[in-house]
Amino acid sequence: MLDTVLVLGSGTMGRGIAQVAATTGLTAILHDASAAQLKGAVAEIEKSVAKLAEKGKLTAEQASGLKSHLVVCESLDAVEWKRVDVVIEAIIENFDAKTELYRQILPRFRPDTILASNTSSISITKLAAATDRPARFIGMHFFNPVPLMALVELIRGLATDDVTCETIEGLARRMGKTPLRCNDMPGFVSNRVLMPMINEAAYALMEGVATEKNIDEIMKLGCNFPMGPLTLADFIGIDVCVNILEVMHRDLGDPKFRPCPLLRKMVDAGRLGRKSGRGFYEYGGKA
Ligand code: CAA
Repeated sequence: MLDTVLVLGSGTMGRGIAQVAATTGLTAILHDASAAQLKGAVAEIEKSVAKLAEKGKLTAEQASGLKSHLVVCESLDAVEWKRVDVVIEAIIENFDAKTELYRQILPRFRPDTILASNTSSISITKLAAATDRPARFIGMHFFNPVPLMALVELIRGLATDDVTCETIEGLARRMGKTPLRCNDMPGFVSNRVLMPMINEAAYALMEGVATEKNIDEIMKLGCNFPMGPLTLADFIGIDVCVNILEVMHRDLGDPKFRPCPLLRKMVDAGRLGRKSGRGFYEYGGKA
């Protein structure tokens, strides 16, 4: 029975993953080298848990369990490695940064510990090949905001074994999520389908088909999307969208994934979406 999950990286995704693990009865160790980032993560987790409890989406027991189930840790030396069943890596989307971190942590793993990456665009097979356990390496792709989104996309690399798939599927269910499997191809399923829509919305804006607001409202009211594609692009981060499109354009070789020039221009201008205070829309200061 899985008990302890180590989450590496306390950015938006890592803190959400640790929150969900801790409120579903697992011990969640949240690691980040930055003390300031960890402090911010804990404050945000507490706020989110209080809100979910207030709305009845978490029981009083789950909410009060947070304190005893969440452990934060600034140093990899302070982690009790023998207790760690699964490591979920959620650091920046950079192959070298991820594999350098794996190099530091893998010698501390128990032989049966599974390493899962929350990457949204890097090949699981390629990341797995940089470890000593490609069979026990898997993609575990969560969606933002993690506490509210039901899906975990499970990405099987070329060498991932059945036990790893089943174990991580069980872990995702235990965290209250719906795991759905797919194979390792650029963009997996979610971004292969979502990003061309966001890209096309940017082309529609660039070509003057409609205003930002009307493109978003047409897709919201006409397709029942919770957010229009341009609002969603701001939410995800324009730089993240461009990066994922570039990976699919390069690795699938299909021009349909070519990032819209307007998206590139926005990245050059620093209009990265909510996180920079401005993307397709303005957010009144840094969000
Ligand atoms: N914790 C607790 N509560 C939260 C929260 C969090 N992390 N994030 C938002 N909420 C709360 C809001 O504060 C709000 O509370 P109030 O009702 O008290 O105001 C409530 O949830 C609902 O928010 P909204 O009023 O904005 O209403 P909504 O119905 O639009 O729900 C949403 C918000 C769930 C984010 C919804 O808009 C949605 O599903 N949007 C699409 C999100 C999406 O597609 N995410 C995937 C992005 S792609 C990705 O992550 C992967 C990748 O690889 C790029």
